[in-house]
This record gives sequence, structure tokens and C-alpha cells, in this order.
Amino acid sequence: MNILIIGVGYVGLATGISLAIKGYNVRFYDKNKEKITLLKNGKLPFFEPKLQKTLIESLNDKRVIFFDNFKEAIANAEVVFICVGTPIFKNGDTNSKDIEKVAMEIKKNKQGKTVIVIRSTVNPKVYNSIKSILSDKDFHLAVNPEFLREGKALDDTLNPSRIVVGTDDKLAKETLKKLYSSFDAPKIFTDPISAILIKYASNSFLAVKISFINEIANLSDKLGGNIDDIAKGLGLDPRIGKDFLKAGIGFGGSCLPKDAKNIVKYAKETGINLDIIDAASKLNDKQYKVVIRKLKQYLGSLNGKKIAVFGLSFKGGTDDLRNSVSFRIISDLRRAGAILKLHDYLAWIKAKELVKVTLVSNDPYLVAEDTDAIVIATDWNEYLNEDWKKIKSLMKGNLIIDGRNILDGGLLKKIGFTYEGIGRK
Ligand SMILES: NC(=O)c1ccc[n+]([C@@H]2O[C@H](COP(=O)([O-])OP(=O)(O)OC[C@H]3O[C@@H](n4cnc5c(N)ncnc54)[C@H](O)[C@@H]3O)[C@@H](O)[C@H]2O)c1
Repeated sequence: MNILIIGVGYVGLATGISLAIKGYNVRFYDKNKEKITLLKNGKLPFFEPKLQKTLIESLNDKRVIFFDNFKEAIANAEVVFICVGTPIFKNGDTNSKDIEKVAMEIKKNKQGKTVIVIRSTVNPKVYNSIKSILSDKDFHLAVNPEFLREGKALDDTLNPSRIVVGTDDKLAKETLKKLYSSFDAPKIFTDPISAILIKYASNSFLAVKISFINEIANLSDKLGGNIDDIAKGLGLDPRIGKDFLKAGIGFGGSCLPKDAKNIVKYAKETGINLDIIDAASKLNDKQYKVVIRKLKQYLGSLNGKKIAVFGLSFKGGTDDLRNSVSFRIISDLRRAGAILKLHDYLAWIKAKELVKVTLVSNDPYLVAEDTDAIVIATDWNEYLNEDWKKIKSLMKGNLIIDGRNILDGGLLKKIGFTYEGIGRK
């Protein structure tokens, strides 16, 4: 089976390399020539250690080929996976220009029976638009949403929690059944709308769970409770479960915030209000402000105060900066006149190009030097292992606002820090 992957982001590369590991020959195409050149040379355009290693192995085994010419890439393809980005506009609508352009290129350049798989996250409106562009009887369309987590992209695509395929087309269904036969995961074959809604409901549910615990954390803060104990007591109920109950400054990234806003906007157009998901988004948009409030509570005016922001990527284990909550904090602090120094283990290089501040570095000690306060904005577990005594001795002040509740507040207090988590006593 000849496979073509269009779009070499997290989803495209993880999907294609997993299929190569399963023994398929996989071609990749992306309009970004720089990314294709990097990949041809065995280098990933982003940080994903396991994917990096298997990319090199797959190149050596000649199981993967990278193209910057669409016509050549698609020539013999029997199955085409569309994995391009589907960002949203400020009003929540999908910016579908990239995915529609891909559909038009397929229509222009491909003859003969081809199974087209939409792997990108699309709402029913975008799905219908792609379907009408690819209405020729030779195109056999399916929706096959991806659920991977960045930082665990390869493991998640090789061992997915479930494989969801939505199609009304017999050939597409049979082809994907065969393609995924060696994947040991529950498989759900359903209609396209249901498959689309499984994806949106999954991400929206996670968004609601996070905003829910954050709301409880805000109350716990006010009343003097301990959110760690509260989340534990809540999560031990098997009907609720312990995952995604970590309180903090909210979720970011390229998926959760986007998908939650997008489905609310789309549903509204159909006459349905998704009030719970909407509330989760709205709470998330302002949850980061808890950090600014806490800083002001201890430092008074932030004008001229030196503040270190620890963590720039949207979560630990990735260098992805898209929609990172850290940048909301950074812009508010800048507006308040604070002098900023930024740390991240990986994303500091990308961040350096984006923001002009006093210092952006991967050395936490250098960043902490002479600061009044440190804000933990990303859940890098590595922060637990830093030498906090040394950090304290380098700082001018002694305040830590742990926006991810990852540090040991008791230990830090013993060292001489003033420690504040989110909803933590
Ligand atoms: N990143 C995730 O964790 C994740 C998880 C599940 C689902 N998704 C969804 O999967 C889709 C892709 O996400 P991603 O994070 O991999 O995106 P990405 O931004 O990392 O990569 C998208 C790629 O598509 C390419 N592209 C755009 N227009 C193109 C065109 N006309 N022709 C060829 N290539 C083109 C871009 O150059 C880019 O390399 C999105 O719909 C996203 O919502 C993402």
C-alpha cells in the first residue's frame, strides 16, 4: 500500500513514521521546503526524542521519502493522509485555507482510486467543504482523528488508546481496517460526524476537567484549603479518575484551547449553545491572572521589579510555544513595567526569536540572578531537581509563584522562600 502524508508536523510525522515502523512505505510532502530539507537529512523540525531516533532508522531502511514537489509525491499514492494545521481565527472559526488548498491540489493532481484520510482536526463545516472539493467518485473519504500528546507522539501513535475512523465509504473503511490491522487498540468505525465529535468531545472534556479543578483551586486559595489533597480525594472516585486534575494557571498548546473554542463557535451556528465548554474556555483565558495577582500581593507595584519566568513551552517535555500560557503572563508583566528574564530547557531558542527581554536562557541560575521573584509557568519536572538553595542565594528577593504546583512548597519555605502555589496551603 503506497501511503502519502501531507504535512510534516507532529501529527503527520508521528502517523507516517508509525506506519513505516509497521512495514509500509511512506512518502511525505510539505509546502515548507526548509522542513523537508531538514527531514531528508534526518533532523526533526521540533523536539520529539523517540520520533527523532526512528526517523533516522526509517530513512536508513528506505521506508520513508520526503518530497517538496506535490505532483511527484502523490503520483502513486493509494492512501493520502491530510495532516496540515487547522488553526482558528480570533472569533473561533477555523482558518481552513491550508486544508482546502491541499484538497484542491489533490483534486488537480490525482487520478485513479484514492483513499483520502482527514487526520487533521476538522469540524463538520470544514469536513463538508473538503468533501465537496473531493466529490469525484475516485476519491474515497474518511475522517481519522489523532489523539497524540506532544512529548509522547510516537508512543501514542504506535499504541493509541483508540483508533477512530468515520466514513460512509466502503473502500475507505476496508482500506483503513487493513492498514490498522496490526495496531493493538480498540477500533471504532463510525460515520464521519460521530468521528469528528469524538475528537472534539475528547479535547473539550479535558479542557472542562482542567478548568473545573482550577476553579476549585481558586476557591481553595480563598478558603485556605489544599488543592493537592482535594484533587486526590476527588480523583480516587473511579467515576471521576485522577488524570487532568492538576490545578494551575490553565491549559495552552495548539489543540485544547483551539478545539474547545472552535466547537463552541460551530455549534452556535447550528443553534446549539455548548455552555459548559464555553465556560471552560472563558475561565482558562483568565486563569493565568492569578499569578499577576499573587505577585502584586507580595511585591506591590510590578513596575521595575525583576521577575524570572521559568518555563516557556506550553507544557514540559516539548519545545512547542503555540498558545503557551507563559506568554500571556509575560505580556501582562511587560505591560506592568516588570523587567523580565526567561528560562526554558528547550524552547528558549525559539523564544529568543519571539521576545526581546533582558535574558532568555536554558540556565536557570543565570536567569534567577538578581530577581525579585520567580514564576513557574511550565510543568517541567526538571525544576524539582534544581539546586533551590543556590537559586535563593542568587536572587535579590525570595518569592516563588508556582503556577503549576510542581515544587515542594514546604522544602522551599525551609530554605527561606516565600512560596505560593495555586490553591495550595
Ligand atoms: N499537535 C498535536 O498534539 C495534535 C494532536 C492531535 C491532533 N492535532 C491536529 O492535527 C493537525 C496538525 O497538527 P500539527 O500539530 O501536526 O500541525 P503543525 O503545525 O505542527 O504541522 C502542520 C504542517 O502542515 C504543513 N502545511 C500547511 N499547509 C500545507 C499545504 N498546503 N501543503 C502541504 N503542507 C502544508 C505546514 O507547513 C506544517 O509543517 C491539526 O488539525 C491539529 O489540530 C494536533
